[in-house]
Amino acid sequence: MRTDTGQTVYLQDYAPTPYRAPHTSLMFALHPTRTVVRATTLYEPVGTGPLELAGDGLELVAVELDGEALDESAYEAGPDRFVLKAPPEWPFALTLVTVVSPDDNTELMGLYRSNGVYCTQCEAEGYRRITYAYDRPDVLTVYDVFIVADGDGEQVLLSNGNLVERAVKDGRLSAHWHDPFPKPTYLFALVAGDLGAVTDTFTTMSGRKVELNIYVERGKEPRATYAMDALKRSMAWDETRFGREYDLDIFNIVAVSDFNMGAMENKGLNVFNDRYVLADPAVATDQDYSGIETVIAHEYFHNWTGNRITCRDWFQLCLKEGLTVFRDQEFTSDERSRGVKRIADVRRLRAAQFPEDASPLRHCVRPSKYDEISNLYTATVYDKGAELIRMIHTMIGEAAFRAGMDDYFARFDGTAATVEDFVSCFPLADPGAFMRWYEEPGTPTVKVDERYENGRYTLELTQVPAEGASIKPIPVRLALLSDTGAVDPAKATVHGGEIGPGHIVLKDRVKVTVDRLNAAPIASVMRGFSAPVTIERTADEARDLTLIAKDDDPFTVWDAVQRLAVGAMRARYDGAPGDESALAAALATLAANDGHEPTFRALALIVPTRQTLIEAIGSDVDPDKVNAAHQGFSAALGAKMQDVLARLYSAPVPPADDVSAEAAGHRALRNAAMHLLAAAGETDRAATQATSATTMTDRLAALGALAFTDAPGADDALAAFAAANEHEPLVLDKYFAMEAMRPDDGALERVRGLMEHPKFSLKTPNRVRSLIGAFAQNVAAFHRADGEGYRLVADVAKALDKSNPQVAARLLTSFSDVRRFDSPRREAAADVLADVLQTATSSDVVDIARRLTAKG
Ligand code: TRP
Ligand code: ZN
Repeated sequence: MRTDTGQTVYLQDYAPTPYRAPHTSLMFALHPTRTVVRATTLYEPVGTGPLELAGDGLELVAVELDGEALDESAYEAGPDRFVLKAPPEWPFALTLVTVVSPDDNTELMGLYRSNGVYCTQCEAEGYRRITYAYDRPDVLTVYDVFIVADGDGEQVLLSNGNLVERAVKDGRLSAHWHDPFPKPTYLFALVAGDLGAVTDTFTTMSGRKVELNIYVERGKEPRATYAMDALKRSMAWDETRFGREYDLDIFNIVAVSDFNMGAMENKGLNVFNDRYVLADPAVATDQDYSGIETVIAHEYFHNWTGNRITCRDWFQLCLKEGLTVFRDQEFTSDERSRGVKRIADVRRLRAAQFPEDASPLRHCVRPSKYDEISNLYTATVYDKGAELIRMIHTMIGEAAFRAGMDDYFARFDGTAATVEDFVSCFPLADPGAFMRWYEEPGTPTVKVDERYENGRYTLELTQVPAEGASIKPIPVRLALLSDTGAVDPAKATVHGGEIGPGHIVLKDRVKVTVDRLNAAPIASVMRGFSAPVTIERTADEARDLTLIAKDDDPFTVWDAVQRLAVGAMRARYDGAPGDESALAAALATLAANDGHEPTFRALALIVPTRQTLIEAIGSDVDPDKVNAAHQGFSAALGAKMQDVLARLYSAPVPPADDVSAEAAGHRALRNAAMHLLAAAGETDRAATQATSATTMTDRLAALGALAFTDAPGADDALAAFAAANEHEPLVLDKYFAMEAMRPDDGALERVRGLMEHPKFSLKTPNRVRSLIGAFAQNVAAFHRADGEGYRLVADVAKALDKSNPQVAARLLTSFSDVRRFDSPRREAAADVLADVLQTATSSDVVDIARRLTAKG
């Protein structure tokens, strides 16, 4: 077993390579355990000194320089590097022949096999597990790829770019692919195997016809039609909204079952975790459908933001990821509902990024150092990165934003760019001040203070930076609501902030005053969640109820509901009797209002997570009391809203094959009602729906309502569900996740039992995440007082440290929440992490364990 001796990489050490690599020919002779890779790269000196290439666990079998075998004295080679000591001073072709074993590749980086299909994953540093290279994003190369495999002609042989030739001869298949666009190693991909396909075409804005293929496991082709539809809509949207046209003759997507992340944007050959491709109403939920739409769009949009313009170095990861998340969010907003999408994105940001930014794992959106690049694919880089783009958009408006993007594409196409390059394209008032959003970790707080005296209303906003951070420009969207509608902004006087169209830019402090009013207005602050900040505002039930009733910004309404709900749970947690009458009445009115979108109403009815309550409590949290407060609150709300909920539940069920956002909204609203009723002890509807449902959305919602309220019959219903879906891996994942997240006392033992289930395996990341990852989200079970929950997750991480360190490291990040709990728990977790740190060998696990155990 190889031990990674990771070293810290610093942004300030960036230097271009002394050689360029304008062209590479790759020849693959595929074999399950001895694939031979012959790589011939043309190198051109732009500096002097040795040619130092990266490798990772490679076996080198031949070296040639300009076609002649090279004497061993001319180079130094080991599994992890190749150095040509004194390269020619003119362009030269270096051929390196390596041998790799796809079947032994459990890390799922480089070339591996999933269900017998050869596939690759090169981002960030997987290419060096195939051949030696300048495996870094600023070295751009044109590739010709030749693939040879045994086969009868049925198999697909794919790589990036356009197909030049495909041949079958004497039981041997071959294919030649040429990608005319220079690209970094991380965007290289190869796929080969026996796969089925759905095929379509797309005609681009300039009239070019592009062949589209989605390859899936044979027999599952009908489940790829929604992904194909999402792809075509993505291609059309990028043309109309950003003027971006696709640039090759063919676009291929391949779905594989074993994949470390969601999907990968390899040029012209996206590779996907099959959970983001395969769908059919009987096996996939509405949430799965929208996830597919998002990820298909995200990877497609990378063609311009990531591939045509790539990153100079990995510190610039947010340049492609934050921007591409912003683009996929906009796509979903335009395709579905802007208000609902914003709420969904804020939920995600608050659930994952805010906690990360307050934890020992906190880092900047554009960090200045890292130990292991794989651990930088985080909510901060992706989701906070997208928020920073959104703030630019808010501050300059859509027209100037689009002009800035056009400028970015015009100036940087074909290059490896930096965050500074990107920001320079937009007319910001103070770009230097804005850059601090990229360079400082932590979530700022915006304090809201209000006064009303003698007809004069004053609103004061104060910025409180995160610890160690400075004052940054914060766009605040604001409206003052009164009985007669919104107060005309022209009547307000603003001190201390810059006023932009529809927003104020807050630095230290802003004071807004309005005179000659008959009554105090209600301030609707941070409309649309105009900046990734924590809003600190005195609790005021009457004010929040007014916002719920009168505000027309979906986010601020939803946020007022969250504030009241978390406040009520907090009171219960602190031992107060609990009175949710006013909130229940307001929610009942909101939920019954047909003028609102069903999805929005459903979101309002979803009780804030236990995690949200834990964040609000802050320290020395008692997980059992959290569960009790959460359950007590849900039950009370369900009981108080019974009539409305029953009426909502009796609405017609949309047809099973209607997977539109609208139909999904109607299902979501019915299911939210069912869930609250079940929390209040009325589980009959859920019990019936668990067996009668015609969609996975409704079946899973019913099972969840039974499982999470520990209703009679929950165990049997889950067992029947597991038995019925024995041969549906993606459905089994849902089963495992539900068993792992049930809040009852038996969760730990149940999960230990399920680890022995014939279908459980550490080899498939989706399965590990569904059982162990979900267990780590089970508050009371993971944070058991005896430390056994920590032990379980740590043991799995230790096992995976050897076989799949990326997945192991990801699992361990759950430990960053432990600081919210009492000291016996923190000590139990510290012991477990110390043990992990001592025994781990991968740089991935060592990096996370070290940061989690660091003092201070
Ligand atoms: N670039 C991918 C995305 O679109 C992320 C990704 C996929 C990835 N697979 C990976 C990152 C493996 C690191 C390792 O977001
Ligand atoms: Zn991405």
